[in-house]
Amino acid sequence: LEVLDNEFSVKHDYNPIHHMTSRIKSVDSIFEKIKRKGWPMEMESVYKVMDFAGVRVICNYLEDIYWVEDSLLRQDDIKLLKRKDYIKNPKESGYRSLHLDVEIPVYLSSKTEYARAEIQLRTVAMDFWASLEHDLRYKSTKNIPEDISREMFNCADEIAAIDVRMQRIYKQIQKL
Ligand code: GTP
Ligand code: MG
Repeated sequence: LEVLDNEFSVKHDYNPIHHMTSRIKSVDSIFEKIKRKGWPMEMESVYKVMDFAGVRVICNYLEDIYWVEDSLLRQDDIKLLKRKDYIKNPKESGYRSLHLDVEIPVYLSSKTEYARAEIQLRTVAMDFWASLEHDLRYKSTKNIPEDISREMFNCADEIAAIDVRMQRIYKQIQKL
């Protein structure tokens, strides 16, 4: 991802990726996830966990997300296991991002291991909403009432509209 971003920057004098974060899932949260999903406590269930490694790619504009996706999936050693486009089909909460569950080879001295990762691609604006909403929802011990959930959903909609406008402004300025 860094190489793609750097290459684009050299060719077009622009960085599609604003920044990236990553995390490795702890053993505790692997178990917590298996429990939450209602899967049996066995090795098979561990293999079902796709997001051992998580990478979040925060892009500037909407179209950058799909450019990064295309460029990444064109690499022949990256295998796409599952794709969820929560930008075209936002979640009930209003959450938007493009999720790619991928498998990538890790070359060790005597063998190749395949590692799974969940890559979440989103704009700065989507990330702003997702971070605050996550904190509000998870840090609150109380159930969030329906009208507040609707208000959060509406905020996500407004932010999505702004993403479209900002992308348009960017293109207009490029044409000058
Ligand atoms: P898990 O990975 O077990 O959570 O379920 P899943 O694989 O069925 O869901 P998915 O991959 O679609 O989404 C999982 C991740 O997306 C979460 O760990 C969050 O990072 C993010 N996410 C999904 N829905 C929401 C949401 O409503 N709000 C926020 N803030 N983040 C969300
Ligand atoms: Mg997931």
